[in-house]
Amino acid sequence: MTGGAGFIGSHIVDEYLAQGHDVLVIDSLWEHGGGRRANVPDRVTFVPMDIRDKSIGRVFAEFRPEVVSHHAAQASVAISARDPGLDADVNVVGLLNVLENAVKVGARKVIFAGSGASFGTPEAFPITEGTPQRPSSPYGITKMVAEHYLRFYKEDHNLDFTSLRYGNVYGPRQDPNGEAGVIAIFIGRFLKREGVRIDWDGGQTRDYVYVKDIARCNVDALTRGSGECFVIGTGIKTSVNEIYAMLVDISGFEAPVSHAEKRPGDARDAQFDSTLAHTLMGWRPRTSLHDGMLETYEYFKKLVSP
Ligand SMILES: NC(=O)c1ccc[n+]([C@@H]2O[C@H](COP(=O)([O-])OP(=O)(O)OC[C@H]3O[C@@H](n4cnc5c(N)ncnc54)[C@H](O)[C@@H]3O)[C@@H](O)[C@H]2O)c1
Repeated sequence: MTGGAGFIGSHIVDEYLAQGHDVLVIDSLWEHGGGRRANVPDRVTFVPMDIRDKSIGRVFAEFRPEVVSHHAAQASVAISARDPGLDADVNVVGLLNVLENAVKVGARKVIFAGSGASFGTPEAFPITEGTPQRPSSPYGITKMVAEHYLRFYKEDHNLDFTSLRYGNVYGPRQDPNGEAGVIAIFIGRFLKREGVRIDWDGGQTRDYVYVKDIARCNVDALTRGSGECFVIGTGIKTSVNEIYAMLVDISGFEAPVSHAEKRPGDARDAQFDSTLAHTLMGWRPRTSLHDGMLETYEYFKKLVSP
């Protein structure tokens, strides 16, 4: 498991352990990412290493994974725009290092964290697997390119894959200081009894999917979804204003709101139709936004005042 100390990766590790699998985590705990050593349970072998490091070959040779879950990435759209070279280095060159070593040790399959960002701003919603990918950031570009490499390695090296193109994932352990999730950022501020900033008119929507549903999807992908790329979301659009209102309801605190301009490049909507993931892998999200936000709120609340 690469990126297993990160927000999403660590939930997948928990789910794999619960299913009785042996797990090894490679993660560099990159300073600009959400990875924390404390996210990885003690009984899991943790290797602090960069996926671009050639010596991951030794780790692969010793552990001999049957399946490689590749979740390590430069995961910030903003950083990718500032430094496309770094983004490509980690997300493409790093991926190739992982794939080469997976082939060398005879791994059966790679499960890849794709992204809805590879679609850019589509002309029609909901987004399905048939929607053209026209990424509008270097991050979206490398997530798309990665899937072409996965196809190549399947055809040329018989290394199977499933790519899961996530919508906006939220839940416990998400970095409240990161750019990633409005839910984590808002919860952090609500708990400190601070105000929140709403950009644009707050009517912009995203498809928020709970991290534990994502972890279950990664279990389904262990044995299903061969050679496929799936869009992974709930099919429900939720606006920033609705998120704000739900948090007022959950916390009982009416955080003061300041308004700001639309951020450049911000998309108006996102919505993913995951029918194919249901048909081919039996996956369906189970957690309502309200329940997922409540669990996330309780998690962060305990961190602040245990
Ligand atoms: N959070 C979302 O909404 C979302 C949506 C779509 C796709 N994804 C993808 O899911 C994956 C996990 O994202 P996340 O939100 O958990 O982010 P995260 O930053 O919490 O996790 C990424 C992990 O990768 C590690 N990492 C970064 N560069 C590395 C390197 N060079 N070598 C080894 N490890 C490295 C980081 O230390 C971190 O632990 C990423 O591939 C991301 O692109 C996330």
